[in-house]
Amino acid sequence: MNPHATHFQQLYQRDDDPWQVRRRWYEQRKRQLLLASLPAQRYRHVYEPACGNGELTAALAVRAERVTASDVSPTAVKLTRERLARKPGGHAQVSVHCQRVPQDWPLDARFDLIVISEMAYYLSRVDLAQLRDCCINTLTADGVLVLCHWRHPFNDRMLDTTAVHATFDASGSLFRLARHDENDFLLDVWSRSSRSVAQREGLAP
Ligand SMILES: C[S@@+](CC[C@H](N)C(=O)[O-])C[C@H]1O[C@@H](n2cnc3c(N)ncnc32)[C@H](O)[C@@H]1O
Repeated sequence: MNPHATHFQQLYQRDDDPWQVRRRWYEQRKRQLLLASLPAQRYRHVYEPACGNGELTAALAVRAERVTASDVSPTAVKLTRERLARKPGGHAQVSVHCQRVPQDWPLDARFDLIVISEMAYYLSRVDLAQLRDCCINTLTADGVLVLCHWRHPFNDRMLDTTAVHATFDASGSLFRLARHDENDFLLDVWSRSSRSVAQREGLAP
C-alpha cells in the first residue's frame, strides 16, 4: 500500500467514522444541502470516489439506478459495503471498489453524476488536474459534477479548497450551475451543459 493509502487506512482502523459523518449535525446538514443541490431528481449512473464509510453513498443510492463508489482505504470500502447492505437506501445497483483516484479512475465508464466530497484537497496539483480531466472525460453530455470541501486549514491537506474549486472553474468545459458558499465549506455544482434546472425541466427557454 502506498503512503497515501496507508494514512487513510490507519484512520479507519482506529475509528470506523473518523470524521463523525454519521452523527454530527454539521455533516448531516451538509449532506442534505448537497443532495438538494442536485439538478435532477434521479440519475442513471453515479460515481462517488472517496466514499468514506458510505453515508453519502446510501443517500445517493436513493436517487440513482446505479452507483459506483470507491475509496483508497480497504476498510472504508468494507464499511461502505456493510452500510449499503444494512440500510440499502433504495433499489440502486451499487458496486464499491478499492481505488485511488485519479490513478485508478474508471475511464471506460460514463456517469451522469460524479460527486467528490471532502477529498480533492488531499491531492497534489498534478493529480488534481488529472482528476478534473477524468471527471470531464467520463461525464455524459448533460452530466453533473459536484464538489464539496471544508475551508479551514488542517494538517494533512495539500491544497486549499478555494484553489481546488478554482481549478475546476478554469477548465473551460464545465459550466457552474450552482454554488453554496459558507465560511466552513464550499459546494459547487458544474455540468458539461449550461442548461439551468428550469431549462432541464422545460420551465424556461
Ligand atoms: C474526509 S473523508 C470524506 C469521505 C466522504 N467523501 C464524505 O464526504 O463524507 C476522505 C476520504 O477520501 C479517501 N481518499 C483520500 N485520498 C483518496 C484518493 N486519492 N483516492 C480515493 N480515495 C481517497 C479517504 O480514504 C477518505 O475515506
